[in-house]
Amino acid sequence: MEKRELIYEGKAKLLYNTDDKNLVIAEFKDDLTAFNGAKKDSEAGKGALNNKISTELFKMLAQNGVESHFIEMLDDNNMLCKKVDIIMIEVIVRNVATGSLSKNLGIPDGKILPFTLVEFDYKNDALGDPKLNDQHCLILELVKNEGELDLLRAMARQINDILRPFFATKGLNLVDFKLEFGRDENGNIILADEISPDNCRFWDLETGEKMDKDRFRQGLGGLKVAYEEVLKRIIG
Ligand code: TYD
Repeated sequence: MEKRELIYEGKAKLLYNTDDKNLVIAEFKDDLTAFNGAKKDSEAGKGALNNKISTELFKMLAQNGVESHFIEMLDDNNMLCKKVDIIMIEVIVRNVATGSLSKNLGIPDGKILPFTLVEFDYKNDALGDPKLNDQHCLILELVKNEGELDLLRAMARQINDILRPFFATKGLNLVDFKLEFGRDENGNIILADEISPDNCRFWDLETGEKMDKDRFRQGLGGLKVAYEEVLKRIIG
């Protein structure tokens, strides 16, 4: 499958059309951004690691009944995907309080939440990805009806119920993560984007060490080594 014109450039991926109108190629970049693009860097090999990690996780989710846009990994940095219309909602799933949840609500960093929290952020860089409630989502027409919001929440919980125990067997605590969904050619809502240490938080279950993009956000160094370790544990 050949790349045709570039249709979208995001912070971590490029999206290309192909000769098939229902298929796109996602190219994973080495670029790193944080704080809504205010902090930027690049780490050679990061894109390939995220492509491989996402591939493994999309395959594992498919085996567990979760449909996604993933079709196949083409090479180190490129993934063949179904073309979808992205729903402009970032679905955030949290098992443990940290990051903006701790900062905004004063919940102690590292506190295990009494139940899994699912939140919606507006996927809108110009506005700084603000929090959304259900009524905001409907007023902005980000979904067609309340039932679709319930579906997004249910899919997010289902994915968490698969990923959290999976990562626990790999010695990783799945603290929180961000999902994106899209509509396929038939209008069905399916999982899209990527699942990687760029948009998940993984803490080593024994040492508490951060194995994700917080190493970049917090200037801890060792980002690539951590991502390599995540991949090694997933496939190991
Ligand atoms: P969150 O604590 O809301 O944000 P921050 O990274 O600013 O502390 O992040 C929750 C999870 O969602 C975390 O794993 C990172 C991920 N996430 C993204 O991938 N992209 C985003 O734009 C946001 C806000 C979060």
